Amino acid sequence: MSIRSRSYDLWLKLFGTGQRDARQTGGGLNRLAVGVLAVALLFVSACASNHRDQPYYEAQDPSAFFPDGKADRPLPPNTVPQGQLRLDEHLYQGTSNGRPVNTFPFPVTAQVLQRGQQQYNAHCVPCHGFAGNGDGMIVRRGYSRPTSYHDERLRNESLSHYYDVIVNGYGAMPSYADQVYPRDRWAIIAYIRALQLSQNANVRDLPAEDQELLNHPPTPAAGDEGEGEEGGH
Ligand code: HEC
Repeated sequence: MSIRSRSYDLWLKLFGTGQRDARQTGGGLNRLAVGVLAVALLFVSACASNHRDQPYYEAQDPSAFFPDGKADRPLPPNTVPQGQLRLDEHLYQGTSNGRPVNTFPFPVTAQVLQRGQQQYNAHCVPCHGFAGNGDGMIVRRGYSRPTSYHDERLRNESLSHYYDVIVNGYGAMPSYADQVYPRDRWAIIAYIRALQLSQNANVRDLPAEDQELLNHPPTPAAGDEGEGEEGGH
């Protein structure tokens, strides 16, 4: 039965008997109310079905329309998804020709280090701690303790190793590939290198005049009690 004939039946049922009853009881208002209600109902159901029952395919549905019988359409050949072309092995895989690297895929500027610090503080500090000693809050509450970044072995690991640990995790450490984007991974690694330098700097790395200052510190003026002598290092 088509929708049209069904609604016509409904109309007759509601309105037709309503008319007869109205004539018997003389209730004109009653008849009008039933009529209005019936018309309103027809509209409501018509609108709802138009919008709700539009034809559509779900993923992997069969289809009689396409020659291959599938509703899913394959990507046209040679399609490059925008922003997804990851040809730069150094940047995206952290290696070069499959071998570990010890260089960054882009220049490390102050801005990169700042971004690295922000991302490190957001993602790594809870376990590795602000200085990278492996004493983050989660560790203090019982999580496995990571090796300190200032450990001799880790200081000598290649940048690729760090990239790999962020992407794939390491032992008790889960992967952070989903949370940290490729450029930010490198920014974090640059910041970790800065942390390592901060704890293992060599005096010989200082400019000559600073080395001279260290070797022959200026004598404090009389009355100046050498403030800050015990702080710092
Ligand atoms: C949930 C805690 C946790 C977080 C967060 C975390 N790590 Fe780790 N990480 C660990 C643990 C635990 C280890 C030691 C794993 C082991 O040796 O089994 C570790 C080890 C490491 C190592 C040393 C691997 C080695 O060779 O010994 C590096 C590098 C590292 N993490 C980098 C990071 C970076 C970068 C981040 C932030 C993006 C991060 N981790 C976030 C827990 C964490």
